[in-house]
Amino acid sequence: MSESAHNLRCTECGSSIAPETVSSNFRCPLCNGLYEVVYAWSESSTPGTPVGNLPNASALRWLWQERRTSTMPIDQSGVWRFRDLFPILKNAENAVTLREGNTPLYELPRCAKVAGIDWLLAKHQGMNPTGSFKDTGMTAALSVAAERGFEWVACASTGNTSAAMAAYAARAGLRSIVFIPEGKIAWGKLSQSMDYGALTIQLKTDFDGCVDILGELVKRFPIYLLNSVNPYRLEGQKTPAFEIVEQLDWQVPEHIIVPGGNLANSAALGKGFMEMHQLGLIPHRPKISVIQAEGANPLYRWFIDSNRIMRPVTADTRATAIRIGNPASWRKAATIIDTLGGWCEQVSEQEIALAKAQIGAEGVGCEPASAVTLAGLKKLVALGKVTREERAVLILTGHTLKDSQYTIDYHRNELLNPSEVAEETPLQQTQHAALRKPPVVLEANPDVVLRALEAHMKLSHSVQPA
Ligand code: F0G
Repeated sequence: MSESAHNLRCTECGSSIAPETVSSNFRCPLCNGLYEVVYAWSESSTPGTPVGNLPNASALRWLWQERRTSTMPIDQSGVWRFRDLFPILKNAENAVTLREGNTPLYELPRCAKVAGIDWLLAKHQGMNPTGSFKDTGMTAALSVAAERGFEWVACASTGNTSAAMAAYAARAGLRSIVFIPEGKIAWGKLSQSMDYGALTIQLKTDFDGCVDILGELVKRFPIYLLNSVNPYRLEGQKTPAFEIVEQLDWQVPEHIIVPGGNLANSAALGKGFMEMHQLGLIPHRPKISVIQAEGANPLYRWFIDSNRIMRPVTADTRATAIRIGNPASWRKAATIIDTLGGWCEQVSEQEIALAKAQIGAEGVGCEPASAVTLAGLKKLVALGKVTREERAVLILTGHTLKDSQYTIDYHRNELLNPSEVAEETPLQQTQHAALRKPPVVLEANPDVVLRALEAHMKLSHSVQPA
């Protein structure tokens, strides 16, 4: 170990470096691989054996619970509450926090039914301060940037990373630059980075093109890169794994279902579960499955390819958050799927729209990219990869208000084009008809409103939501 409590280890060639020596693009100079953060206990061989001077499992569980009643900002954060398992700062007081984490774990009984299983939960990461799971990673990595004295931070983004980065940079008094693909991000997200005072640059390219430009920029300008190639992001993003089992009274669900874009989140959650197992906090690990949109499916293609070759694609999906064709962390995600015995699936635009409406109809709601989890779960159940009695947790990554235009278009029946509608099964069409709730414009007259209400009640008796 270096003088810090952690090292960075290349996930491709295994070489370790001291954190201060990492290059500005967070790539290994020997093989161009991505790093992961390792601690003394990461190397420990026997799961469950107390390691170094870390408290044992039950002391950690007690400590983390105890911090929930503290008035200290870092204890109130659902990320820094678990700081014992990611000592990445020299001084924990340097943490930049918006009280992220501590997100709800909802039961989704009606979605469980449509998926064909008995019990389904959703970990709603959209309930974070800027409305997405990115806050959990951003609080960690941006705190490192602030502690190391950077003035500028930057990211390329499909919208959520940029919103989170802009907010945390503003809290820390740092300057932030956002690169987003022009015209291909949801308005809610674009407005956030402006609101939080970032320099917002819309590049005339897609997300993958934005990543390339930023990669060049960090070589020429003293700027701290906050994309998920930055391994500290994943240290924050692993903490929802701790929360999930804590919220289940330290029981481990059988299956975690994660949307896949740039593919860091699945890897981060997997790291969280693996480390908990290593430390004896949980007796076994869940499977982690990744779901991609059909139009942005490079990991799915890799997964079904007998030669297992990764070929980037030109991405296109209305779930703009995951409109990514050349995912940086694909190998990390692939390793997690294989190590934990999960699966990879793809889902169509119609399946995403239906799943999003079904999650919304439970009073929960999420953005389109998050809804791929339910759409994918239905397929995993049909394939026998998730059985009826297994407990599955969907990771809902973003808040429904992030992309309200999508929701409005769906309910007005203006989302899908005629050829997509024609491809739907009669069952899907019936389900859509029951779920769609377009706004009704009426004269301001009580008789008119009453007649409309009666007509609506008759209709909803004849079409029950599926
Ligand atoms: N869901 C949402 C809502 C996202 O914003 C993203 C990624 C993902 C899922 C996929 O997660 O990349 O770790 O596989 N959004 C990034 C961004 C790329 O820039 O906001 P991943």
